[in-house]
Amino acid sequence: MDVLEAFQSYEQDALAAISAASTSEEIEAVRIEFLGKKKGRLKTLQAEVGKAAPEDRPVVGKKFNEVKVGVEEALNAKKQELDKPKAALSAIDITLPGIAPQLGKTHPLTQTIDDFKELMGRLGFEVVDGPEIEDEHHNFVALNIPEDHPARDPLENFYLATANIAGGSEGPLLLRSQTSTVQIRVMSERKPPVRIVSVGRVYRPDTIDATHSCMFHQMEGLMVGDDVTMAQLKSVLSIFARSYLGEGVEIRFRPSFFPFTEPSVEVDMRWGDDWLEVGGAGMVDPNVLKAVGYDPEEVSGFAFGLGIERFCMQRHQITDIRRFYENDVRFLEQF
Ligand code: DAH
Repeated sequence: MDVLEAFQSYEQDALAAISAASTSEEIEAVRIEFLGKKKGRLKTLQAEVGKAAPEDRPVVGKKFNEVKVGVEEALNAKKQELDKPKAALSAIDITLPGIAPQLGKTHPLTQTIDDFKELMGRLGFEVVDGPEIEDEHHNFVALNIPEDHPARDPLENFYLATANIAGGSEGPLLLRSQTSTVQIRVMSERKPPVRIVSVGRVYRPDTIDATHSCMFHQMEGLMVGDDVTMAQLKSVLSIFARSYLGEGVEIRFRPSFFPFTEPSVEVDMRWGDDWLEVGGAGMVDPNVLKAVGYDPEEVSGFAFGLGIERFCMQRHQITDIRRFYENDVRFLEQF
């Protein structure tokens, strides 16, 4: 039967053309050629069905339909395949901003420490360092803190259960409880005048809460020379606090006692409706000057020790000191 052969060659041609098409335009051309409603080759074949002998018609009609459906399916499958990458491509909007890489930042405490060093540097103070592992001589004895003083209680300090390192230390070792140790180290090595600050970690087994941590940072300041006065101390601290926290900062000096200063003051900062202690200060005690070989009749000095965390908390309205040490990126990336 000629007509069945015609179906077969139509089908072969159509499937070959479909598989050869490689773009949406080409597949559309194939569709028009083989399935087009007006002049497509299918149209011609359909006319053949009409011409078939009545007894052959059921077979011819069935075959026609099979061929038609087969070609349509193959064409649609190919069309979908060709359209797909285009759809995926258009889903990418190249005009959208890209994903910025996350940049690391300096820790807020490091920023504060850098600011402190810079501010004190501008006031003429040299920045020096001291060790965190100290001996009793530098942490207590030379600072005029007597043996029976509560600050020396083993329960108030992190004493190290080690033999004295290299044998060079004076007395048992501990993690320093204050940066005042650096005053002794500097004065023991230098002749006056001295004008230094030292910033670093200190350690105390305090109960941890919103304003206390067993490791925190202090900035120690020391100025020794001819006629250094308490008025200068107050000026330096006031200028410093205003430079870091702004003109509106309220600080007050409250009479106090430290073994290494006489007279001594505590420095408080306005904290909401209240005051918060941010450090201690005073005129270097004559006993301390003598311990480092200075003559208290010749020179005088002031010293101060400030808690870095509390200044940083005040500046950034941080209400809990523990945030500094948790390394929560959501907190850290705000600075
Ligand atoms: N070292 C004291 C403390 O940690 C703070 C302090 C007070 C430091 C008076 C000083 C000072 O230099 O003169 O509590």
